[in-house]
Amino acid sequence: MKLLHGAALALLLLAAAAHAQRTPRTHAGDAAALNAVFAKLGQKASSSWNISGNPCSGAATDDTPLDDNPNFNPAIKCDCTDQNGTLCHVTRLKINSLDAAGPIPEELRNLTHLIKLDFRKNSLTGLLPAFIGELTSLKYITVGTNALSGPVPKELWNLTDLVSLALGSNHFNGSLPDELGKLTKLQQLCTLIVMTSPVLYQRRCPSLRTCQPCGHQTIVSPGRYLIFLGV
Ligand SMILES: *[C@@H]1O[C@H](CO)[C@@H](O)[C@H](O)[C@H]1NC(C)=O
Ligand SMILES: *[C@@H]1O[C@H](CO)[C@@H](O)[C@H](O)[C@H]1NC(C)=O
Ligand SMILES: *[C@@H]1O[C@H](CO)[C@@H](O)[C@H](O)[C@H]1NC(C)=O
Ligand SMILES: *[C@@H]1O[C@H](CO)[C@@H](O)[C@H](O)[C@H]1NC(C)=O
Ligand SMILES: *[C@@H]1O[C@H](CO)[C@@H](O)[C@H](O)[C@H]1NC(C)=O
Repeated sequence: MKLLHGAALALLLLAAAAHAQRTPRTHAGDAAALNAVFAKLGQKASSSWNISGNPCSGAATDDTPLDDNPNFNPAIKCDCTDQNGTLCHVTRLKINSLDAAGPIPEELRNLTHLIKLDFRKNSLTGLLPAFIGELTSLKYITVGTNALSGPVPKELWNLTDLVSLALGSNHFNGSLPDELGKLTKLQQLCTLIVMTSPVLYQRRCPSLRTCQPCGHQTIVSPGRYLIFLGV
């Protein structure tokens, strides 16, 4: 009987040790970048989510929803399959309607595994940085309803996996270039930029279902369209 207990305990301990060993850690560079981005944008994680320790834990890795979840904001989601399930990278970042002000922080550049970026409805200023084009895993970008300005960087059109791009309600100027045609997976485009015929872009971007899901269009001059909304 005692022997059996001993064996059970040993098994339990072994299982616990294996579990501890398998608890994935956040990639150090991702953690540092995330903390820097949050600090620069004046964001604090909720007390239940300890981002100074291991940000890819708790709500960031369990099934807590990210989108449309006001209780988890600012928020991230991680992918922890790297190095045989021991290393996590930040794949989704949300700072939505939180009065984040100032330029988009340079440290965002280090979150190289980002798939989804949601900065909508803040007070971000300055340019959309050219380094955005280096984050080649990005599929969803929403920076709508901020105070970003200047031209949209040409590097953006290198993000050929983009499915959804929302730039609307900012102060961007310039026009959308032909390179937009490289985004063959794009399904949703929301801008406030004067662009040439959306029919052209539909032809160039076969997946683009016009801008209907996120806005409407108004002809501002013959052959040119102003695509509204997009937040
Ligand atoms: C971002 O990456 C660069 C280059 O690897 C590094 O020098 C810098 O310290 C990193 N920034 C943060 C906040 O980790
Ligand atoms: C957060 O994690 C760090 C490092 O693991 C730890 O030192 C700190 O006490 C934790 N803070 C909270 C509030 O749990
Ligand atoms: C990966 O994990 C599996 C299951 O835990 C293990 O069998 C395998 O040896 C590990 N591979 C490496 C390269 O660590
Ligand atoms: C676009 O905006 C930038 C920065 O706000 C400004 O310097 C530039 O002159 C503007 N260009 C045009 C064509 O309006
Ligand atoms: C786009 O990517 C290609 C190769 O991946 C690179 O040569 C080019 O410089 C990039 N363009 C921009 C504008 O970043």
